[in-house]
Amino acid sequence: MTQSPIGVFDSGIGGLSVLQSLQVALPAEHFVYWADSGHAPYGEKTDLFVRQRSLAIAKHLIDKHHIKALVVACNTATAAAIHELRAQHPHLILIGVEPALKPALHISQTRHIGVIGTRGTLGSAKFQHLLTSLQDQAHFSIQACNGLALAIEQSTHATLGAQASQRITELLQTYTHEMGTFGQAPGQIDTLVLGCTHYVFAEPALRELLGPQVHLVSTGEPVARQTRRLLEAASQLRQGPRPHALAARVQLMTNGDLSSLQAAAQRWLGLPHTACQRANTPS
Ligand code: DGL
Repeated sequence: MTQSPIGVFDSGIGGLSVLQSLQVALPAEHFVYWADSGHAPYGEKTDLFVRQRSLAIAKHLIDKHHIKALVVACNTATAAAIHELRAQHPHLILIGVEPALKPALHISQTRHIGVIGTRGTLGSAKFQHLLTSLQDQAHFSIQACNGLALAIEQSTHATLGAQASQRITELLQTYTHEMGTFGQAPGQIDTLVLGCTHYVFAEPALRELLGPQVHLVSTGEPVARQTRRLLEAASQLRQGPRPHALAARVQLMTNGDLSSLQAAAQRWLGLPHTACQRANTPS
């Protein structure tokens, strides 16, 4: 089993931000990445739909790719499906992601923290539980960003890309404006939690809007560390004589637009187009 790949999935290209951190923390591991772009975005769909997609993808990765661990690189899918995934696969090493509220508490000086995510994540019982447990430690401004994951998803598309990039800026302007004032002064939001894995790829646009001082907090690195810890604890860590280039140890699949995934994988992970392939939807 130690030689088996790690499965990673998201509604689309957002989980590549988690794969970036995974491949650094786990330089000998092989990965199979599933982009469910044919069904993106998840954030504005029902819980039931997201749960069914997550279970189908997990089963596909287990049955066809014999994965030894699964990283749910999507906050929305984690909120909707992690309990059911654990129940159905009690022996699988399973790692989910959630908005990084706790790390943000260690960073914020003003004790005013912004959180952006999908409607599905921020409206979930799982998130509400996390928020309630921390609410006495800081003031949290919560903002669901409808349309943002879709615009990021489309931003690497050959024809839709330019318009989608413009849309990302417009949406971020609207949503951050609704949250309040960002900055280092008392009462201002000095830390922003990116509670959706897609949003990591909007960091340059966020920096433009919010300036260099505001802390942007994402989950890739802690998730990668946790994955490593769990593999070590289960004696499932793959040992290699020396690290191989990522291109030799990753396979990316999409049931959406292949060239969009190829462009994203090249832009953010430096991968050749041959690392990506179009695949049928698991059901
Ligand atoms: N990247 C996902 C997340 O972290 C889902 C975005 C979407 O499909 O709406 O929530």
